[in-house]
Amino acid sequence: MSIPEIQQAWRVVGRGDPSKVLRFDRDVPVPKKPVKGEVLIKVHAVALNPVGYKIMRVAPSFVIKRPYISESDLAGTVVDANGTSFKEGDRVYGWIPVPTIIKTRMGALAQYTRVPANNLVPIPENTSPVQAAGITLASMTAYQALFDVGGLQPEQSVFINGGSSAVGAFAIQLAKAAGCTVTASASGKNEEYVRSLGADKFVDYTKAPLHETLANQPPTPKYHVFLEAVGLIDTSLYTNSEAYLAPGGTFVSLGPQPKGFDIAAIVKVAWKVFLQPRFLGGTNRSWKLVQVRHKREDLEQIARYVAEGKVKPIVDSVYSFEDTLKAYDRLLTSRATGKVVIKVDPDVSTE
Ligand SMILES: NC(=O)c1ccc[n+]([C@@H]2O[C@H](COP(=O)([O-])OP(=O)(O)OC[C@H]3O[C@@H](n4cnc5c(N)ncnc54)[C@H](OP(=O)(O)O)[C@@H]3O)[C@@H](O)[C@H]2O)c1
Repeated sequence: MSIPEIQQAWRVVGRGDPSKVLRFDRDVPVPKKPVKGEVLIKVHAVALNPVGYKIMRVAPSFVIKRPYISESDLAGTVVDANGTSFKEGDRVYGWIPVPTIIKTRMGALAQYTRVPANNLVPIPENTSPVQAAGITLASMTAYQALFDVGGLQPEQSVFINGGSSAVGAFAIQLAKAAGCTVTASASGKNEEYVRSLGADKFVDYTKAPLHETLANQPPTPKYHVFLEAVGLIDTSLYTNSEAYLAPGGTFVSLGPQPKGFDIAAIVKVAWKVFLQPRFLGGTNRSWKLVQVRHKREDLEQIARYVAEGKVKPIVDSVYSFEDTLKAYDRLLTSRATGKVVIKVDPDVSTE
């Protein structure tokens, strides 16, 4: 397989929004010498995650030097197996975690990239590269949030706030695959979508404050785990959770997101979730944060679920490599239902 010397890539050259700091470069050297344990991938498709634009916006250059190639999730073909268990021509998907991007400045938004072999699995027969590209980060987050952090057990019940977010959609499917009962929220237009993912019950969060809706009609039994899969800065769902989260149950957050760099909002959240004692109105339920990390066994388990059809990859929209900025615009609406995917290789089939 002939590998070119030079490639096209989207590189982050400053600090700010994608439209301001992403540059399409046509003369980026192909990283032809993967280090031990890495393979070189010809990238077919890349899926966006909010963490990509969040780092662009906030990370100072002493954390990540510019220029760097952004994004974690990808699917592609191995073109240099570099002595790993893969062979040239293998179709794979997986991810480049953020700490690796910070170290190598080499993310997924390029025609060729280096990826640790341990972070890749074969694309299942029933899955296209475009679908596979968006599986890893969101599904591993959902898996770790539910089972590692939340301690969810088969046959227990879980509430997923944001059932139509990418993480929420995988969480619904993974909880159902484990035999749990799932209630999920979204705006009314997404009810059918959320139910099609397997949710047993649906709540439209736009009709009334969600914590009031849940407290007015508490479930029996109460939820064992409450997954906040949106990143809300408002802590009301947690502070009112004694009404609908079982004693000993866990409230799992993907990380409350202030608008901009709002120290006061962050301090308020810390007070509400960690510091406020019960006699001062604190909540008698545990609040835990998930921070997705690489776990080979999770990657493999999710790949098995996908191959068995128990978990379906979800694609909101597909953009050409040249239209990458439009793909970020779509993600930034916070209205996507599934993954926003960029077809880096125009010849790769979408289905
Ligand atoms: N901690 C970690 O390791 C980790 C890992 C991955 C992601 N995250 C964070 O998790 C969050 C979600 O990421 P994502 O990629 O899943 O997002 P996403 O797919 O872009 O989320 C879009 C969806 O969110 C729903 N939504 C927006 N506001 C909502 C609300 N108030 N209540 C319920 N649903 C709402 C929208 O549905 P409607 O149109 O129906 O409102 C839309 O379908 C982000 O903040 C991301 O940074 C954290």
